[in-house]
Amino acid sequence: MVDNDKIEALVTQAAVAFSQAEANGSLDELAQARAAHTGKDSPLRAMQRTLGGLSNEDRRLVGSQIQTGLKQMESVLAGAEDRLRARDLQARLVRETVDVTADIQLHPVGAVHPLTGLIHRMCDVFVAMGWQVAEGPEAEAEWLNFDALNFTADHPARFMSDTLFLDPPENHRLLRTHTSPVQMRALLSRSLPVYVVAPGKVYRADEYDATHLPVFHQIEGLAVDKGLSMADLKGTLDHLARAMFGSQVRTRLRPHYFPFTEPSAEMDLLCFVCHGASATDPSKPCRTCKSQGWIEWGGCGVVNPAVLRAAGVDSNVYSGFAFGMGVDRTVMFRNNASDLRDFVEADVRFSRQLEGVAR
Ligand code: PHE
Repeated sequence: MVDNDKIEALVTQAAVAFSQAEANGSLDELAQARAAHTGKDSPLRAMQRTLGGLSNEDRRLVGSQIQTGLKQMESVLAGAEDRLRARDLQARLVRETVDVTADIQLHPVGAVHPLTGLIHRMCDVFVAMGWQVAEGPEAEAEWLNFDALNFTADHPARFMSDTLFLDPPENHRLLRTHTSPVQMRALLSRSLPVYVVAPGKVYRADEYDATHLPVFHQIEGLAVDKGLSMADLKGTLDHLARAMFGSQVRTRLRPHYFPFTEPSAEMDLLCFVCHGASATDPSKPCRTCKSQGWIEWGGCGVVNPAVLRAAGVDSNVYSGFAFGMGVDRTVMFRNNASDLRDFVEADVRFSRQLEGVAR
């Protein structure tokens, strides 16, 4: 006959094993102790299996004592397990703490190149007036770069040492020396009236120094419509100048020559360093404008009727104006960048410095 003391002794043994496992901080050990003390091979279960041989009355009594013992074991076990899991969680929370104030080195972020930023800004000025943005290839047909723009076959500019022709010579291809070939492309591919700007790279076999790059940027403009004149050109470029440099900017048109415009001019900006003073006061020489008082910004003029005719446009009905402004110079003036080489040396610190201001 099983006595209750024995059951209570088993419960005590189980409780000791459970708290041992808890003290050791081991959920595995707790699971083993649970199997050993409440599983089917445990002494209490074995005792349960002998119940069949008892009288009805004893079976009921001992059966319920065993049940009570099992319940006690389970409740001790549940307490130990709860505390162990809570401790585990606590340890994990500490282990996986993230210090949000830690100073970590993120991958450095790039920056929009100042020239790209400014080109977008310049285009925006024209898009706001309803103009369109056009593009042309940098490897260009000689015909579009020169012939169509009214450069005669023997025009010196064509063979001047600064044009970079592409091999083989019989293909008559070159790296465009200006963005003006896009004028012809626009006239040939669009219907009139045409109002386009075309920013991009141009190539000349120039020196590489603080004020010259063999690759630089222009923004070409072409407007062809009925009744356009030099006055529209001046108004448009003055608007661009104010958008770029502020309302206090001073501009002037200086007569010049281009085969594809007639009359032609260059637009100058009053020197942003000496404000013109160096031109009249020999005691104040200025390096930026070479004491001229003015700085050349770009070429412009009324589109030569010969160019319109080359594009199949009736020059008796339509007229237009065109310009090609230096983008690199514009950034230099706007941002006091004094060395053009900084623009091509791919140092992101330079781009970051100018990013906010150039856009
Ligand atoms: N293409 C000329 C240059 O590179 C500039 C220009 C453009 C002049 C359009 C007149 C009209 O110097």
